Amino acid sequence: MNNKKELTLSIIKPDAIERNLSEKIKSIFLKNKLSILETKKLHISKDEASEFYKIHQSKPFYDQLCNYLSSGPIEVLILEGENAVLKNRELMGATDPKNAKEGTIRKLYGISIDKNSVHGSDSVENAKIEINFFFKK
Ligand code: CMP
Repeated sequence: MNNKKELTLSIIKPDAIERNLSEKIKSIFLKNKLSILETKKLHISKDEASEFYKIHQSKPFYDQLCNYLSSGPIEVLILEGENAVLKNRELMGATDPKNAKEGTIRKLYGISIDKNSVHGSDSVENAKIEINFFFKK
């Protein structure tokens, strides 16, 4: 088995912050052996959201997505653990909460495909880019 220690980026989105779910979501990461190396709360502008999600710029939902991520405070986290990218994606569940497995964060807390409570990097390469976006020193 491949047991690489990796870093990944998690975002707790406005719908989850608004409902005070941050501690519950963080406890799911910790219980599943993902350490939280750094965390910060912030409220990004639409321009910053557009830059962060530019990989989706050709998608029909891009504008809505950027409006949403900039609509309220978020919390960004650097997670570390073995196979952290995949593990975080498994813990989050499917993008649309309707399709997410029982026990996953999006099944537990997601409201809709937009208000799906969390974002997680989809590869080690994108994790580096996304961590750098929020935590560049
Ligand atoms: P996230 O993992 O943050 O990455 C992109 C986001 O686009 C996704 O979660 C969803 O919240 C959002 N989104 C909105 N509409 C769609 C859609 N039709 N397909 C995929 N993602 C969508």
